[in-house]
Order: sequence, then structure tokens, then C-alpha cells
Amino acid sequence: MNHHEVLPLLGQVANAVSGAINRARPELAGSDPVVRRSEHSDFQSNAALALAKRAGVKPRDLAAELAATFDDGPIGSVELSGPGFLNITVPDKAVWGQVSARMAGPRLGVGTPEEGRRTVIDYSAPNIAKEMHVGHLRTTIIGDSLARVLGFLGAEVIRQNHLGDWGTQFGMLIQYLNEHPEATWRRDELSDDTSAVSALDELYKAARKEFDADPAFADRSRSRVVALQSGDPATLARWKEIVAESEKAFRDIYDRLGVLLTPEDSVGESFYNPMLGDTITELVNAGIAVDSEDALVIFSEEVTGPDGDPVPLMVRKRDGGYGYDTTDLATIRYRIHDLKANRLLYVTDSRQALHFRLIFEAARRAGWLTDAIDAEHVAYGTVLGPDGRPFKTRAGGTVRLMDLLDDAVARARAVVAEKNPDLDPAALDQIAEQAGIGAVKYADLSTSRVKDYAFDVNRMVSFTGNTGVYLQYAHTRIRSILRKAGDPEVTIDPTIPLEPAERALALELDAYSTTLVEVSDALEPHRLCGYLYGLARDFTTFYEACHVLNADEPIRGNRLALCQLTARTLKHGLGLLGIAAPERM
Ligand code: ARG
Repeated sequence: MNHHEVLPLLGQVANAVSGAINRARPELAGSDPVVRRSEHSDFQSNAALALAKRAGVKPRDLAAELAATFDDGPIGSVELSGPGFLNITVPDKAVWGQVSARMAGPRLGVGTPEEGRRTVIDYSAPNIAKEMHVGHLRTTIIGDSLARVLGFLGAEVIRQNHLGDWGTQFGMLIQYLNEHPEATWRRDELSDDTSAVSALDELYKAARKEFDADPAFADRSRSRVVALQSGDPATLARWKEIVAESEKAFRDIYDRLGVLLTPEDSVGESFYNPMLGDTITELVNAGIAVDSEDALVIFSEEVTGPDGDPVPLMVRKRDGGYGYDTTDLATIRYRIHDLKANRLLYVTDSRQALHFRLIFEAARRAGWLTDAIDAEHVAYGTVLGPDGRPFKTRAGGTVRLMDLLDDAVARARAVVAEKNPDLDPAALDQIAEQAGIGAVKYADLSTSRVKDYAFDVNRMVSFTGNTGVYLQYAHTRIRSILRKAGDPEVTIDPTIPLEPAERALALELDAYSTTLVEVSDALEPHRLCGYLYGLARDFTTFYEACHVLNADEPIRGNRLALCQLTARTLKHGLGLLGIAAPERM
């Protein structure tokens, strides 16, 4: 436990219940104290119900034993209820103590339980020469939030943008460019409203068409792949140029979104090309990769297909080529052996679940992935359009991400301008950008990750409901109260009794670290969204029930402290979601 860390009351109560279990029933020592927040008191323990059978007594009797040995110390008093619940009420002084302790440091009392863990997060990973689609938006936003949360909790996060920058399609693309020097695709040749990647997308389609129609061109394209893979300088130079152009367009999206990804994080598929040989040799020597109809495959020992046969992972295709599977085998080996990661996260849509299951199985059989290392596919659902079908343009094409973000920002601008007509245009522009981008991110992060979700811009930018804009606005309202008070240095008088609404708010503030640990364990940012939303609502209830600015001291100071800690927690939590918290809106 580092010296900034404040143990949440939930944890303190759990320790107290554990103490009571140890004293009353030493044979049950170490059992889960089953403590949670409660409506009837501050916390409730169901330990007696869970353990009665093993103790050989009625739950109510065990509860009485536990209550009798409960140390009515700083943590509070215990009461028996129902068939054997322990209701625990924490003294006001202890609640105020938590608030002041969390206010004392920049980390809001949150510890670093992830310290010592090196975590690779594979996210974003769009494909070169193709438009980034809404699916890539999800991985970019979810991966980024996880990178922030895990990093804040002390993990050494290594971000990896596994760009799709290698493969046979490049032979076709390069060959086409060589034969059509007039084709425009570079950013400096384009009009302002086409991104380089859209032009590349067009080029891709044109090349594909010729490839399918003209067998001679298809042959020349295949030779071009060979030239690329054998490192022919002119071909390689062309490939690099295409990658660089695409990356510029991706960078525009990353800058707009304000994600952490830097050019150094781009470690695309091509990076692993020199490692494929060794990886395959190792798998063959271990008897894991085997010949099958002129190809080299790894048959799963765990998964069978519809026909009952084991599902294969393609290590080398019949034509001798290496694909996505091969690269991911080399990648996981590299991340374990060279990056020395002990947690591997892959943020991609749920349709790749089987792929990662097979990769993890193979890595385990190869002895790379051990029990000390955690590998997880952080899967997410599909982005749907308003019609409930996969999100496409009216013409059925991919929706351009930049257009989507522009649209969200424009709508956010309209709702903010309506709410606050006094903002000057420059301030409005900045706030609209923060609100619009925040709205898109929040809509994505607040839905349970594995579910599909409908992209509905109007709902996203609403000032009411569980939206990013609502939370940003809640933060600005509290900041405005604090500004009116002159942003004072507040100190808490812990002898002042707590009103119910103050207590509810304070207990929620105390649960911040517990929520972050849940996010990091379950890899589910929506838990943080739900927490912040609940916090904002608890604040509203408090502010409706309790005067702040015109209360008398020392009550006023205590309430300003609650305002301050709420504002800081909201801002910090939004920050971990990658969302800005403006001062006014
Ligand atoms: N480029 C892939 C896609 O667009 C995602 C790559 C994910 N990462 C990985 N190591 N396979 O679907």
C-alpha cells in the first residue's frame, strides 16, 4: 500500500467482519466477509448466511456470534437483522475522515494495485490503405480508456497499434501505382475534403477491379508481392510511402479524439515479418504445427468445427504465404519473450474471438504463455445504425470517421449554444469540440462492452440522461459553485453530523478506488461511467437537500469540501475515460 492510498470504508468494514469471523470461528478464518453497500445501513455483511452451514448453526445464531465479537471500534456499530444480516453503520467522524484523506492528495486516495505488472494493450489497429471504420473507433476508444485506467493504477502499459500494414494486397496496390502513374492518392495532391486514406481506398478498389478482370495484371501483382517480401528496394520504398500516407490520416483521427497513441506505438504486422521463420521453426520442432494438404497448420485440441474436426490455425498457406494467424503467433511470442509482458490484452470486435482463442491455445502449447501471464481478448460488439443494422452510409458504404466526429461536434455546438447563449464564439468552439468528442466516447464506453450499440448522435449530446454531456455539465455546475465561494482551501470539521444526502454522497466518493479496480479486473470501462453517473446524481440530491453557499460555518466548509471532492472525482474519472471536463459550458 503506497502512502497516498486511502483504504475505502468498504474494505475497512470487510476487514472488521473478517476479524470477527477469525475470533468467533477460527476454523472459518479467511472466508469472504461478503460486504456490500446497503440501503438500510451503510454496509451489510451476508457472511453469516454464507457460512452458517459450515459452522453448523443457524445463520441468525452465527450472525449473533459475529456481532458479539465485532470490534465496535472506529469502523462503527453492528446490528443484526432479518435471517442473519449484519448491518454496519459507520460513525460520521470516520466518513468525514475518508473525505479529507481523499482530498489530501492528487490521486484522490487511489492506490497502485497494478504496480509490477507489465501490460501490453493491442488496440486501434486499422488497416493501411483502407478507411478506418466505426469498429476501429470502438477499439481506439475502449483501448485508450483501459490504457489510462491501468496506467493510473500503476501498471506499466505498453500500447501496441498492430496496423494491418502487410499482406498480398500490397502487391496489387504497388503494381497498380507503377502502371498508373497518373493516379492521385497522396495527400498533397488531394482537395481538402478527401482524406489520403479515402483516396487510397478508391485506389484499392480500382486495383482490385483490374486484378479480378485481368489475369496478366494479377500475375504481375503476385510477382510484386514476391518482390516486396524479398526486399526489392523500389517496391519497399513504394510500400513505405503508402503506409506513411495512410498513417497520416489515422493520426488525424487520433489527434481529433485525443487518444494516447503515438507514432512509436505503431508496431504493425510488417514488424513481425523477420520473426516468422523462427516462430514457425519452433512450432514445427515442437510438433505443434503440422503438414496438412500442403499447408502448415496447428490443429486445436480444444475447439472443433461443425463437422467435428479440430479447427486449424493457418501457419503457412499452400502457396507458401503467411497470413494474419502467422503474424499473431509471432506477435504473442515477441510480446512475451521480448517485451516481457505479464498481461496481454487484445481489443478487437467479438467476431475475432475464435482467432484469439486459437492463438492463446497455441501459445500455451508452445510454452510461451504460462500461468503467470494473463492473455485476454477484450471483445466488443458491433456499432449499429439507427435502423438497428450494422452502421453504414445510406449508400451502404463505410461511414467516414471524420464526418461522424464533425457531425457530433456540430450537434454538441448547437445544444451548448442553446443552453448557454452568452458564450463567445471561441469558447463555444472549444467547448463544442470537447462535448462532441466526449459524447461519442462516452456513448461507446458507457454501454456494456460486449453488447452491440446504436450510434445515435442526438441522444449522445443530450444534457439529460447517462451521457458525457450530462457529466461534463454536472462538473461545470459544481465548479461554478466553487468559483462563487472563491475556490477556498477547505478544511473539514469531523465533529459535524452528516445529513443523509451528505452521507450518501461521501460514501459514493469513497468508492472511487473500488470502482477503478473493478474496471481493471473486468476490463469494462462502463463500470466507471455508471459510477460517475451515480455520483453526479448523488450530488444533485445533496445539492437539493443541503444549502452550501449560504450555510453557516463550519457546515459551509464541510459542504464545500464535498463539492470540491465531487468536482475533482468527476474530472478525474472523465479523464480516465479520455474525456475533457471544461470549466463552463
Ligand atoms: N487489423 C485488424 C482488424 O482491423 C485488427 C488487429 C488486432 N490485433 C491483432 N494482434 N490481431 O481487424
